Amino acid sequence: MAVQKEATLVRQIIRAAGGHAADVRELVAEHGPEAVTAVLVDEIVSRAPHPVNDVPVLVELAVRSGDALVPRRLAVAQGAPVRRAAPDDDGFVAMRVEYELDELVRELFGPCRERAAGTRGTTLFPYATSGTGHIDTYFLAAQQATATVLAGCTSAKPDLNELTSRYLTPKWGSLHWFTPHYDRHFREYRNEEVRVLEIGIGGYQHPEWGGGSLRMWKHFFHRGLIYGLDIEDKSHAEEQRITTVVGDQNDPGCLTELAARYGPFDIVIDDGSHINEHVRTSFHALFPHVRPGGLYVIEDLWTAYWPGFGGDSDPGKSDLTSLGLVKSLVDSLQHQELPEDSGRSPGYADRHVVGLHVYHNLAFIEKGVNSEGGIPGWIPRDFDALVAASSGGAA
Ligand SMILES: C[S@@+](CC[C@H](N)C(=O)[O-])C[C@H]1O[C@@H](n2cnc3c(N)ncnc32)[C@H](O)[C@@H]1O
Repeated sequence: MAVQKEATLVRQIIRAAGGHAADVRELVAEHGPEAVTAVLVDEIVSRAPHPVNDVPVLVELAVRSGDALVPRRLAVAQGAPVRRAAPDDDGFVAMRVEYELDELVRELFGPCRERAAGTRGTTLFPYATSGTGHIDTYFLAAQQATATVLAGCTSAKPDLNELTSRYLTPKWGSLHWFTPHYDRHFREYRNEEVRVLEIGIGGYQHPEWGGGSLRMWKHFFHRGLIYGLDIEDKSHAEEQRITTVVGDQNDPGCLTELAARYGPFDIVIDDGSHINEHVRTSFHALFPHVRPGGLYVIEDLWTAYWPGFGGDSDPGKSDLTSLGLVKSLVDSLQHQELPEDSGRSPGYADRHVVGLHVYHNLAFIEKGVNSEGGIPGWIPRDFDALVAASSGGAA
């Protein structure tokens, strides 16, 4: 298993942002406003949508901490992502947005707050400083560019469908229609410091493709750490809060090592090879490393029917397929109801699968403690006997 670099300061910032205001102050005192601001600007740049202003402008983000003011300029123009302006960039500064550092830390990395007003100061600069042009042109550019930057300064819940287009992941809109299901099952984890592992970063053997879904999860889980496993080197997809690992999802040793290093995971998503044997190996190796209350997700169940992926076109012969695994989990969920002489000794999945949601090509498996106890042995296992026992002698 080859491992790429790992984040540290951002993890401390996320932790402090979920705590008391004093925790953020202590962290800033320890690391200094410049270092903390650098992490925040990285995050804002990655969350900001594509600019729409065709007149390029600069937006100054001024971050205040006590007497210190850390100004950072962002270049905003249609056709390129928002980026940090070069020190010698003498473009037109259209707007200054000023935040208190602790406020911005909590806005970006704290539990989500819907309040949008009263969190920042703004200064709209006169268009005349740009030298030429008409006031309407610059006013519009300033407005659009500021809106773009401010959209990166929030942790409000994004629209997953929109994020699939922005970050280029095929989880919605062409082959797959997964995002509404993801939104339904993942939204309750958004305010948590989740660790999400996705098997399959994307792009297969292309050296620069892939990483779209990791970026989407990074944006959606604004307090999360995102890990991607791929058989190919996908280190180009690394960024703040995204770690990539090279390894084979069909190698239990590799998966155990990965989980020991980065787990337990709140969510694991299998979007890797979709070879049936691999899907089963990964589930058995990684499900024990999902924390109670977490989710294990399997995409692309269609390969269960295709021999080219080790599947079988006969649904009755699913013993070795991904769908066979999913179907077997229904029995795991209900195992406490089996007759005592069934000969089944409860396995790990029996003891820990507490919910199963199956959609077209997609399954969500809920982890927990599956020991509510079966229907007691003294309850009749025969309909007529049950009616008689339940009718107070009237039957
Ligand atoms: C469908 S793509 C992943 C797409 C990505 N999750 C997204 O939504 O944008 C599948 C990826 O799985 C990787 N893969 C194939 N076999 C694998 C294996 N045995 N172990 C780990 N990754 C594998 C491929 O290299 C490819 O990049």
